[in-house]
Amino acid sequence: MNAIPAIEKKDGVWKLLVDGKPIILLAGEVHNSSSSSLSYMEQVWEQGKQLGLNCLLLPITWELLEPDEGRFDFSLVDGLIEQARAHGMKIGFLWFGTWKNAQSTYAPEWVKRDVNRFRRAELEKGKHYITVKKFYNLAYSPLSYLCEETMRADAKAFAALMAEIRRVDSEEHTVLTVQVENETGLMAAARDHSDQADALFYANVPADFADYMRTHTDTMVPEVREAVLNSGEKGNWEEMYGAQAEELFSAYYTARYVNTVAAAGKAEYPLPMSVNCWLNRDGAAAGVYPSGGPISKVREVWNFCAPSIDLYAPDIYLPDFQGICEEYTRRGEPLYIPECPTHSYAASRNLLCVGKYHAMCYSPFGIEDMGQPLNPSQMALFGADASDPALAKSQDVETYSQINHLLGGMMDKLLSRYGTEYLDAASGEFEPEHAFHMDGVELRAKFTQQEGGCLILRERAQEFYILAHHTWLHVLSDQPELPGLDVLAFEEGRFEDGVWQRRRRLNGDEVVANTFTAEAPVLLRVKLFTFA
Ligand code: DGJ
Repeated sequence: MNAIPAIEKKDGVWKLLVDGKPIILLAGEVHNSSSSSLSYMEQVWEQGKQLGLNCLLLPITWELLEPDEGRFDFSLVDGLIEQARAHGMKIGFLWFGTWKNAQSTYAPEWVKRDVNRFRRAELEKGKHYITVKKFYNLAYSPLSYLCEETMRADAKAFAALMAEIRRVDSEEHTVLTVQVENETGLMAAARDHSDQADALFYANVPADFADYMRTHTDTMVPEVREAVLNSGEKGNWEEMYGAQAEELFSAYYTARYVNTVAAAGKAEYPLPMSVNCWLNRDGAAAGVYPSGGPISKVREVWNFCAPSIDLYAPDIYLPDFQGICEEYTRRGEPLYIPECPTHSYAASRNLLCVGKYHAMCYSPFGIEDMGQPLNPSQMALFGADASDPALAKSQDVETYSQINHLLGGMMDKLLSRYGTEYLDAASGEFEPEHAFHMDGVELRAKFTQQEGGCLILRERAQEFYILAHHTWLHVLSDQPELPGLDVLAFEEGRFEDGVWQRRRRLNGDEVVANTFTAEAPVLLRVKLFTFA
């Protein structure tokens, strides 16, 4: 049997391995309901192929997997795996169990009906069901992160799912990753307010956890570090962590719960497992975004409580895309983006993620609707910023497809430069121009539109592959002692089976004074020579 898909850090570089070979997930997450129907999915696989995707992220829901307690229906799991194979694509499954967007709408009927056995959170003392102002006036009644009975039932269902994936896929490796739950956390309150929750909140913080927090302040966000540095030897959550206590408490019990589910699944089949984050906005209080979910702010809590989780994945619907990429890589972890909008920056962000952040996964959400107008007010229900002007225009499908196909063709080359300075990228969304410096030459990219992007890969000394769109590209020497620069070769083309296939040789009017303008996406091979 081949090695099962795994993530590995080697020589400081994270990679996702399939059959021992690295892969970048040029993925798309489908709408929540698409993968509930195999016939509906037929067209979605086709769309994915046309977009040059190599992987789809697909929900598998508890309600359909275990319609009656202990009776499992694996027809969707098996069918989706077969469809992926028929289309030559991979899958990342998303387990919609206890949580989906901080709610519990995907729990099966037998869980929803038995409110005594499967307890709901108390957002206010004694109230299990409320219409919450802070949650857009929606009716809200999530399952409690403190209910061991629900945790055991969810873990059992998830283990059954992983056992089935092992049964049908341990040879072929179609399923590469599994997301455990979806955007966990509690809305409208920073913590559960049941009697059980109160008892735990006003009991001493577990000593091993308090010790861990004290010894991991280096990586913490400032407000959590400050709370931990000010905490005493022992005390209850409030005494120890003050204003941060409720969110840390929720994170502790949510992470512990999710880890129990993940560990039960890994015991059956240990695929790489991720959790995705509904992000916090600056200045917002826990509960306005899901409290206790796996955001960077409470990462150290999750690291302590959830050793079975391999990847922390931001769903990036907020405008500060680059800042969020920085935040989710600053601890030396791989960038894995399961969700982001299909607005007109989707393609340049793809270049940025692969080229600058050497990402493991980049996956716009609602991939089957790429090119269709977006609905900002509907997206705002789940954490997007409705006033983000980027949401006004959708991604052009042709551009996205061309870029993805070009990236897919050069994947081995890209991966060979991951973790090195020989792969870089910039985008017009964040700067009007960018100068790349390598080997004594400057490759200056000026973006002709904000949607433009440029990725540079160094092949060998003064020889580069450049993938660009909406970019004016100028090459010059940056060495005062060797100020002259000749273009030795300028070609457009693509990689097929790892081999460069030249289309046009570019010269004359196309490379006037060492400049070239790429409007539609193009992959260039550029060979330069500096002299005195
Ligand atoms: C984030 C969720 O994780 C997705 O399942 C989906 O609901 C999107 N929000 C919708 O924008």
